[in-house]
Amino acid sequence: MGFIEIKDLKIEFTKIDEGGNEVPGKVALDGVTLDIEKGSFVAIVGMNGSGKSTLAKCLNGLLTPTAGTVVVDGFDTADYETIWDVRSRVGMVFQNPDNQLVSTIVEDDVAFGPENLGIDPAEIRERVDNALIRVGMFELKDKGAHMLSGGQKQRIAIAGAIAMMPDCIVFDEPTAMLDPKGRAGVMDIIKELHSEGITCILITHFMSEAEQAERVIVLKNGKVLCDRTPAALFSDKEMIERAGLEMPPEIELRDKAGLPEKLTTAEDIADYIQKCR
Ligand SMILES: Nc1ncnc2c1ncn2[C@@H]1O[C@H](COP(=O)(O)OP(=O)(O)O)[C@@H](O)[C@H]1O
Ligand SMILES: [Mg+2]
Repeated sequence: MGFIEIKDLKIEFTKIDEGGNEVPGKVALDGVTLDIEKGSFVAIVGMNGSGKSTLAKCLNGLLTPTAGTVVVDGFDTADYETIWDVRSRVGMVFQNPDNQLVSTIVEDDVAFGPENLGIDPAEIRERVDNALIRVGMFELKDKGAHMLSGGQKQRIAIAGAIAMMPDCIVFDEPTAMLDPKGRAGVMDIIKELHSEGITCILITHFMSEAEQAERVIVLKNGKVLCDRTPAALFSDKEMIERAGLEMPPEIELRDKAGLPEKLTTAEDIADYIQKCR
């Protein structure tokens, strides 16, 4: 049994026709069935409009199914009575760091989530400090959020999610607006959270990030096109093309340099080159 069980999930957005009536509109997800294991690190990739963000929003009940079910740790996201059981288990980090910060001061921002869960103030203090330490932002806890770089703001958003002590965090293109240094910092935090047992779901358009997950789910037109290990996905050029994706840069470099195809990660390639020198 998965920690998150998605069965025949369909999301259809409605639209308003000329007569002012609400009518069926875009089908963003169409028959998605997936199990996500507790403690796993899963990447979700696919072209723009393939349904990634829609799927993310289904995982903590921000969107509820038009048809099918999403069950988180036994709680159906469509059940309004237990929506906080779902929300406290699955945290979210979105793409735009500026849209996620709710307070002007760093530590207040991190406290916002646990305050909403009704946690007692002494424990909130402890959770906020711990979360800030884990993202390397404790020293800046009294600072104004507007003074931070994009990467630092994103780390604050992650600290906010950590402070809720969720079992799972869904990251929807968290590095898309960051510079390479900010991106690497966020990836390091995600990998560390995974190593501590938190289920990490990373939506990304950087194949070099997807490659670091244990499993990659590819969406196309609201359906699961394939679901494999990164090594299996990135050794299948035809699938990458069908999905409208690109190879990770190091794999392209490997092929241009004529290195063996069995090398599937940047580490493998680096080791190989070291040994050849
Ligand atoms: N609120 C909405 N109303 C109508 N259509 C939407 C809405 N949100 C997303 N869509 C449409 O659903 C499809 C999937 O969108 P999305 O999940 O954002 O894709 P991705 O994150 O993979 O780029 C797109 O065609 C998008 O235009
Ligand atoms: Mg998106």
